[in-house]
Order: sequence, then structure tokens, then C-alpha cells
Amino acid sequence: MLAIIGGTGLTQMEGLDVVSRKAVSTQWGEPSAEILTGSVGGKQVLFLARHGDPHRIPPHKVNYRANIQALKDAGASAVVAVNAVGGIHPECQPAGLMIPDQIVDYTWGREHTFFADDLDEVVHIDFSWPYDEPLRQLLLAQAERLNLKVMSQGVYGATQGPRLESAGEIQRMMRDGCDIVGMTGMPEAALAREAGLPYACIALVVNMAAGLTDEIITMTEIESALHQGMGKVLDLLNAGIRV
Ligand code: HPA
Repeated sequence: MLAIIGGTGLTQMEGLDVVSRKAVSTQWGEPSAEILTGSVGGKQVLFLARHGDPHRIPPHKVNYRANIQALKDAGASAVVAVNAVGGIHPECQPAGLMIPDQIVDYTWGREHTFFADDLDEVVHIDFSWPYDEPLRQLLLAQAERLNLKVMSQGVYGATQGPRLESAGEIQRMMRDGCDIVGMTGMPEAALAREAGLPYACIALVVNMAAGLTDEIITMTEIESALHQGMGKVLDLLNAGIRV
């Protein structure tokens, strides 16, 4: 069963016919919100609001381990994450979509692994290709079928937040090859890999990253792009993704 993790702007999933909602707990603590089970496009899916419902858990306080564990316990066999991001690459303009294929992790101090304590042996997962390629291709094929323009690859730079970046930090990220910047892509992707769950990301650009325009970044601008772009994300999800 596909699980959808909704980010900023996707706390409740429109189009999801909710069949059940369950408050759960895991050995890592409680997930951000109740796990919803419902159907979209005739298929059963799980849904979890990453920042809680209502939206109140900042990126560095999300219990990523509990979220991934709770979805796995609820029967998830794959995860599609929705993330609002800033655009660094010139083609990543507000309200645009990207299905990234790489990650650079700048986060720190987050509980980022299931393999820390009480181990029989040390575990190092392979993370060469952080996103699941078949799942990425499913999303891209669905987008093509819907005639939806998406960028089919790119590097997601994950920052700590909750503040936005300085212009200097964005210049460094550009030199590092990052195309988009967000605060929640990690450790979520790595934990999904550790849990054996295929994972892909739909990134919605909601602003140009710091220092790339003459303006400062405002929440009004971000909300307007979220409003403009989230319909496309919902179209993609509601079209149904067979996993
Ligand atoms: N930086 C980091 N995270 C973000 C941004 C940004 O510019 N926009 C939306 N999430």
C-alpha cells in the first residue's frame, strides 16, 4: 500500500476518502499525526501530515523515525513524500514541480537512523541513489499522462531550518550542485531506505532561494505559490499510483 507524507500545504489531502484515522505509537515515539487510511483514485493509501494536523511541528522537531516506523507498521509498502522547497536552479520557478534524484544533507542533530543502539552488528545502508528509481519513474509517467510539466531530476539540498538560508549559504549550495532546497528531505529518505521502503519525493517550488532575486522571502509569497502549485501535486497523487 502506498503511503503519502504530506508536507507544508498538504496537511489534509483533498480527494482522500478517509476510511479510518488511527493514533498510533512506535518504539521511537509518536508520529506527527494520526495515520489516515483512505482511497484515492480507487486505491487504498495511507496518509500522514509530516508537520502535524494542524501544522505546528517545525522541520527540526519532526520525529522522522516514528513517522516512517508508523507507516511501515500500518502496512506501507512504498512512500511518496511531498515537500515544499526553494528553487536554486534557474528552471526551478515558484509553483514548479520536481521529482529529484539526488540529495545533499546539511541537517544536523536529528535522530537520523534506526541502527544506533542495541545492535548485533553495525549497519551501513547503500544510499548511492537515495530515491527509488522505479517509484520515481511511476510518478514521471503519471505526470506525462496528465500532461503535467515536472522536472525529472535534480539535487535536493536538505537544510536544518527552521530559518531560511542566507544568500551565502545558497551560493555554497549552488556550488555543491543543489537544484532545490528544503528542510524535511532528510533524514526521512534515509530512514525509509533503512526500513526497506521504496521512497520518492514530489518537490513543489514555493519561492526562489535566498539571494537569487532582489526581494526577501515572505510567507505571503510562499503561500501564494503553495496555493498555485498544490493542485498539480494533488492531481498527480489523485491520478493513482500503483505500487
Ligand atoms: N529554503 C529551505 N526550505 C524551504 C524553502 C527555502 O527557500 N522554501 C520552502 N522550504
